Order: sequence, then C-alpha cells, then structure tokens
Amino acid sequence: MHLSVVILAAGQGKRMNSDLPKVLQPLAGQPLLQHVISAARGVNPENIYVVYGHGGAQVQAALGKENVEWILQAEQLGTGHAVMQAMCVIPDDHTVLVLYGDVPLIRPGTLQKLVAAAAEGTLAILTVNLEDAAGYGRIVRDAEGRVTAIIEHKDATPTQLQTREVNSGLMAADAGVLREWLLGLGRDNTQREYFLTDVVASAVQANTRVEAILAANPTEVMGVNDKIQLAQVEAALRRERAEELMLAGATLADPRRIDIRGDVQVGRDVFIDVNAVLIGNVHLAAGVKVGPNCVIAHSRIGEGTEIFANSVIDHAIVAQHCRIGPFARLRPGTVMHREVHIGNFVEVKNTEIGAGSKANHLTYLGDSRVGKEVNVGAGSITCNYDGANKWPTLIEDGASIGSGSMLVAPVRIGVGATIGAGSTITSSTSDNKLTLERSKQVTIDAWTRPAKLDDKEKADVIASAMEKPKG
Ligand code: UD1
Ligand code: CA
Repeated sequence: MHLSVVILAAGQGKRMNSDLPKVLQPLAGQPLLQHVISAARGVNPENIYVVYGHGGAQVQAALGKENVEWILQAEQLGTGHAVMQAMCVIPDDHTVLVLYGDVPLIRPGTLQKLVAAAAEGTLAILTVNLEDAAGYGRIVRDAEGRVTAIIEHKDATPTQLQTREVNSGLMAADAGVLREWLLGLGRDNTQREYFLTDVVASAVQANTRVEAILAANPTEVMGVNDKIQLAQVEAALRRERAEELMLAGATLADPRRIDIRGDVQVGRDVFIDVNAVLIGNVHLAAGVKVGPNCVIAHSRIGEGTEIFANSVIDHAIVAQHCRIGPFARLRPGTVMHREVHIGNFVEVKNTEIGAGSKANHLTYLGDSRVGKEVNVGAGSITCNYDGANKWPTLIEDGASIGSGSMLVAPVRIGVGATIGAGSTITSSTSDNKLTLERSKQVTIDAWTRPAKLDDKEKADVIASAMEKPKG
C-alpha cells in the first residue's frame, strides 16, 4: 500500500490574535506543526505534504530542516480546498491521510487505525466524544447509527448541537475517490468555504462506507484555535510527560508544576522539586535530585548529583555525586567530573573541572581547565576576555586559589600552587609555591572620619572631582 500524508497548515489562526502563524505557536517548546510532522513520521508514509499559505515564508523557515514537500495554498478557501492543492501531486493508487496542523497531540497508533480502515475502501474519519463540543464539527448519524454527515458548529441546528460526538478533522481515504469528492465540493455554508468535512456526505451518496473511529483518548484530538486551547493542550502534554517520568521512577513534588519541553530520560529514584523546566535532550541518572525552580537544558547529569534551588544548566555534562547551586549557572561546554561542588552565584562556561574540585561562592570560570582537588575561593574570577580575544586558563591539580583572585588569561596555575587572596595573577605560577600579588597594608595615623558638609560645600567637592584631568 502507498501512503501519502497531507498536513493542513495554511490557515491564519485569527482566533490566536498573534503575529505568529498558528501552526508555529509553541507547544512544549516546539511549533505545533513540528508535533504533527513527528506523528506523521510514525506511520512511515512515502510522502508528507504540508499545505502552507498564511505566513508561508516564516513557516517554511521554522521547519526548513524537515524533509517534507511544501504545497502552496495561495488563498485560504477552506480545509477541502487545502487538501485539493495536494491532490494534484498524489497518485490515485495512494491512500491519503489528512492531518491538521493545529491538532498536535495525535498518536501514530491512532493514525495507523485510520490508514488500515481506509485501505479497506472506506472513508475513515476520526471522531471523539467531548463534554464540551463547542466549536467542533458534529457527527450526524442516521437511525441505524451510520455516519451521514459532518455539520460545522456554526451551521448546526440546535438538535445537532446536542451531539457530543465531534469531528477531529483527521481522515483517511483512497486518493482516487477523495479527489472526485473534493472536486464536487461547494461552499454553501456560513463561512463560504470549501469544507473537507463535506466529503462525508459525498461518500454516503456514492455508497462508500464511512467508518468513524472513536479516539480512545480525547486529549489526542484537541484542536488549538486560541490561546486558551493552546494552554489546555500544553497542560495535557505536560501531564502526559510527567506521568512518563513517574512511571520511569522519578518522584515529582507536583506533577502539575514541571515543564518538559523535549526528550527527558530519568533513572530510578530521581527527585524533581516544583517548577523545574527541562528542555531538549536531558538525562538525569538514578538518584539525581533537582531543587525548586531549576532550568536544565540539553544536559546529562550523573548518578546521585544534587542540583539545588534556582540553578540554570545548559549544554553541560555533569558526572556522579556533584553538588550544584543554589543559584549556580552552568553554561554551554561545562564538563564536571565526579564530586565537584559548584556553589551559589558561580558561573561556569566552556570549562572542564576535575574530580573533587570546588568553587563554592561567587566565581566565574570561563574557557578554563581545572584539575582535580582544586579549591577556588569566593569571588575569584578567570579574566578570559581582553576586550578583543578570549583566552584560556589552566589550573592544575591540587591548586588553591585564594578568595578574590583575578586570574588574567592566558595563564597557568601550577600543580599544588597556592594563590594568596586578592591577587591579580598575570603570569604563570610555580608548582607547590605560594604566589601573591598584593600591595602592603598600611595604617594612616593622622586620618580622621569625614565631617558632614552642607550642600554648597558638597557641590564644590563634586565640581572639582568631575574636572577632566589636565594634560
Ligand atoms: C475543523 C473542522 C471541524 C473539526 C475541527 C477539529 C472543517 C471545515 N472543520 O474546524 O469539523 O471539528 O477542525 O479541530 O474542516 N487550513 C488550511 N487552509 C484553509 C483553512 C484551514 O490549511 O483554507 C488549516 C488550518 O491551518 C488548520 C486546519 O486547516 O490547521 C483546520 O482549520 P480551522 O480553521 O482551524 O478549522 P476548525 O474551525 O477548527
Ligand atoms: Ca482548528
């Protein structure tokens, strides 16, 4: 069997009140359309056609990397018209599966059922029973329970509006017959559009069986037309992903207060406190603890490592039994070996830190290599930027950097070297020695505390202080 998927993504999404085309609105950090394309890939079609129109260049740019065929619908004359644009390039012996760019949570397993039913020669439509069916097309059945039509909310009679069974919009049919039905569509409805849904009535007239496949899970077919529905779909997806993490062995302080925007893998007995945001590929090994309000993106965290409140970690690799934060920032290129401690207000960028090393307070380590068992005192900084170039710093095993030291790169701190507090180190230091750079401490005997000045006196002092230096 040959299978083509058509994804409708040309609509403006007026109800979004947004400059961003509807199918690019983000869900779990990815455009709605991205989710639909991923689901489509799950049924291994020969081709995926994306019908685009409104905000076309923007949509193509956002999903340019996807291997799909782009079909332009220059004027948005309705969902039926949109599918028709793709039919010009789909051979008659294909089965066509139609997906909507604004129905993002659909699962490949459900799509497989539609495709299988269509392969038997029926028109397969995906329906769902909803408590609140407002806005959706209603499924109309005859006395024998056979589907006879889909009526849009705006065109439905009060009795039809009572129906809880609604159209998901997704359908599958044989390309040859679908084309004929589409050619026969009119726009006799309140929106003056060619409705894809009207092919159901055409199928019934042509004595083609219409099979309504009921989606088991209503969240799968939630459509996104406005920001409220976008938030509802986000919440549904969040719940689903949180449940996956819990089934894999994670304990979540509150499954409603975690955001999973990517592919997150967890080991056993991971604990995640409230308001964690996990982005992209994140791997948390067994026993990892994540404190409240942490952001972890594209990173691997080793077994037993603890991340304390308000830490931000991006593109980092962290080994076992490290301690990070509270208020730590690990930027791209951070590699931490086992049992490293990175404390509060410490920023690390493009730096590898050897086992057992510590930088516990108010430090910046950039473009550095730090050996094993190094201690970096509070307020010490690698000065890696001279205003034009970035330079590396090498801190060898066992070094101890006194508090408030400036290490002006490029520079090497020797094995076991000690740097006296407050030093500005501009050239490399010897192994196992104390190096310090510090002016002598003095006491001024004649000094007295300043007296309070009046406004005039103060103004004179300021005026003379602000004069440009002469010469
Ligand atoms: C549609 C269905 C409705 C169903 C609901 C489910 C029709 C006529 N109605 O209504 O029965 O219950 O989805 O979510 O199909 N699009 C185009 N070109 C167009 C018009 C739309 O590509 O000319 C795309 C949109 O970008 C969107 C999708 O088709 O991704 C659906 O269009 P939308 O206007 O949202 O239809 P609904 O009113 O939600
Ligand atoms: Ca819609």
